[in-house]
Amino acid sequence: MEFQRLQPEPGPVDSAELFRDLGLAARAHAERPWLVTNFATTVDGRATLGGKSGPIGDDGDSELFRRLRTQVDAVLVGSATLAVERYGRVVRRPELRAAREAIGLAPDPPLAVMTRSGVLDWEIPLFADPDSTVLVFTSTDAPEPPPCAARVELTRLDPAELTLTHALRRLRTDHGIRSLLCEGGPTLVGALLHEGLVDELFLTLAPQLAGGGTGPAMTSGPALPEADALALVWALERNGSLFLRYALRAT
Ligand SMILES: NC(=O)c1ccc[n+]([C@@H]2O[C@H](COP(=O)([O-])OP(=O)(O)OC[C@H]3O[C@@H](n4cnc5c(N)ncnc54)[C@H](OP(=O)(O)O)[C@@H]3O)[C@@H](O)[C@H]2O)c1
Repeated sequence: MEFQRLQPEPGPVDSAELFRDLGLAARAHAERPWLVTNFATTVDGRATLGGKSGPIGDDGDSELFRRLRTQVDAVLVGSATLAVERYGRVVRRPELRAAREAIGLAPDPPLAVMTRSGVLDWEIPLFADPDSTVLVFTSTDAPEPPPCAARVELTRLDPAELTLTHALRRLRTDHGIRSLLCEGGPTLVGALLHEGLVDELFLTLAPQLAGGGTGPAMTSGPALPEADALALVWALERNGSLFLRYALRAT
């Protein structure tokens, strides 16, 4: 799919070529994966319309959402996003699984899920998919998962140890995850920022206004002690949507 690159080097770019190999795994930290987030908001900063993110992005957003999934060892979500967005197999199209294999990644990335309660919606398509692996980070007293077709692996952490820093360390050391894509939601992204674990953000700014209401922003929870500074890596445009890639500036 063609996008217009506004910065750097303005001109048309093809998404398949741009996302052929971002080289994210090579940037892994010793103690945790390289972490990128992906989010879509309206111009007035809302992350949902009618409680879901789907109506915000257009087909360009879907294309980049799927392409990003071809670039990482694993995907990370909060339990609420998992349920609301009714996750299924992470990389559904065979040509996208082939694109992963072409750069040395496993065809199906595991999905890591954060949940203190351990209460997940076991009825979503993901858990019925025999090709999916789900790595659940939860607390010691979480209930046992019911039998399901997907491979589900629980990591139970003492409530005091159930931080994202710990979970990311376990993903790196126990599962060999070098690059991780967080797809939200706002609670999880807010917590990742608080623990200083985000390396890059991909943001779709959709040409829409939600006009108030109760939809969340890209982050929720307490404010950061100081605003994080970002550096623009690229800006793309298609049909009035902006697709921005930012890196966290080291402080
Ligand atoms: N526009 C977008 O791009 C976009 C992207 C993603 C999501 N969304 C929208 O965002 C909404 C959901 O967001 P949300 O903020 O309510 O939920 P969320 O971040 O997806 O999930 C929150 C839950 O994740 C678990 N969690 C979060 N941080 C944790 C931590 N540090 N340790 C352990 N568990 C942790 C907790 O699970 P338990 O309660 O199970 O303990 C918490 O209740 C949905 O409406 C979704 O459509 C929009």
